Amino acid sequence: MTDEMEPSRETASPASSILIVDDEAPARDLCADVAREAGLLVRTATTTEQALEILEQFPVDIVLTDLKVPALGGIELLKRVRATNAQVPVVVLTQYGTIETAVEATRLGAADYVTKPFHVDELRSKLDRLVRAIELDQENRVLREQLRSRPGFGGLIGVSPKMQRVYKMIEKVSQHNYPVLILGESGTGKELVARSIHFSGARRKKPFVPVDCSALVPTLIESELFGYVKGAFTGALQNRQGLLESAADGTLFLDEIADMPVDLQAKLLRALQEREVKPVGSVDRVAIHVRVMAATNRDIESAIRSGAFRQDLYFRLNVVSIKLPPLRERKSDIPLLVNFFLEKFSEPGRPFRSISEDAMRRLMAYDWPGNVRELENAIARAMALGSGPILHVGDLPSNLQYGSSAGALERPASADELLPLEELERRAIFRALRETSGDKLAAARLLGIGKTTLYRKLKQYEAQH
Ligand SMILES: Nc1ncnc2c1ncn2[C@@H]1O[C@H](COP(=O)(O)OP(=O)(O)OP(=O)(O)O)[C@@H](O)[C@H]1O
Ligand SMILES: [Mg+2]
Repeated sequence: MTDEMEPSRETASPASSILIVDDEAPARDLCADVAREAGLLVRTATTTEQALEILEQFPVDIVLTDLKVPALGGIELLKRVRATNAQVPVVVLTQYGTIETAVEATRLGAADYVTKPFHVDELRSKLDRLVRAIELDQENRVLREQLRSRPGFGGLIGVSPKMQRVYKMIEKVSQHNYPVLILGESGTGKELVARSIHFSGARRKKPFVPVDCSALVPTLIESELFGYVKGAFTGALQNRQGLLESAADGTLFLDEIADMPVDLQAKLLRALQEREVKPVGSVDRVAIHVRVMAATNRDIESAIRSGAFRQDLYFRLNVVSIKLPPLRERKSDIPLLVNFFLEKFSEPGRPFRSISEDAMRRLMAYDWPGNVRELENAIARAMALGSGPILHVGDLPSNLQYGSSAGALERPASADELLPLEELERRAIFRALRETSGDKLAAARLLGIGKTTLYRKLKQYEAQH
């Protein structure tokens, strides 16, 4: 038994792990390499006994087993995993020409099979798919948890009248199955709203599958959404379900829908109208039962006028639309959000309990073009840089420190204007900070003073406000 629990890539969340069971070293090593490349932590076993032992002792997210492995064989191992770790997907490796055993394995609950000798790419793409599904599942579970405990609704923070209206809409549409179009500027919480609709409705136990239409190349969106059949194009080694089909009784969230190419819009419309998809390369159609939600931060009506978006698809998706207010139109929610993020980013041993009044004033005065996401990032950054337990103005990003409110006080001094030395000093410090994008060490160097002196002066200014 070999244990290689060194993570093969740096990730913020713990990586998923795979158990590879094969008594033939070359195949085992190759699988291990591919799995590591897919970002998985790898454990290997050469017998079913070892495999079962590892399964008892360590967290395993995926099992990849050869069917001809001593002593019990892959089929028996598969049965046991299904019995004891039902949520762990099992992929089986079969010899070329023994397709019956692969079929048998699938019948017994194998998530997938790979025929030896296999292409590295094929195994890689199968593992990638499983890893994605695992990550999604974890994310969804965390979200379900969070839904129960936050002030606001369904994971959304805010009690302003505009948000109350949004909550009412969410509550209402979550009881139904029709499409929902979510509109709003970037960072206003469109994806959060989509998740919250999904997790407050009858589909909450089914998958929530987000697809970013702006991130996929057109040819891939089609096969991702509709699936494909073996031989439809080079590399289509076998049939593959599309997301519309595999989201099954769950929700498909089409993010950045305005970025979907026009010809695909027509195909999507047809699929939604007929509740069927035609996988790429197939002549047959497959029924779909998915709920569709879509979101965009674009002005979709002007996209329709310019011909970039189909009006008929818009009508189909826009059965109900939810428009999210920009943060600047619900500034009364800022303190709640700030406290929520202070808690969210608190690390044990480095508590941030509150924020100074002055810092809060800056946050309230700012316009937040990046909305809640920008606020979230500002707090996260301030907490990473500051020393706690109170978040001060000096910890905030520079555009907030010397932005609108400080800027208003400061008209440029003309060359011969005589100003108090203290005021000249203050201006020099803010100018240096602006020029170094808030990098205090660089600013101190620029001014020819020590870093601690700069800190002291900034604290003074803060106390004066
Ligand atoms: N009302 C809210 N309460 C708590 N967190 C929020 C709220 N709205 C947004 N967020 C947080 O802000 C970030 C951005 O939200 P989200 O991804 O849903 O925005 P979006 O509208 O989809 O943005 P984009 O158009 O850029 O994709 C997320 O981290 C989300 O958790
Ligand atoms: Mg989004």
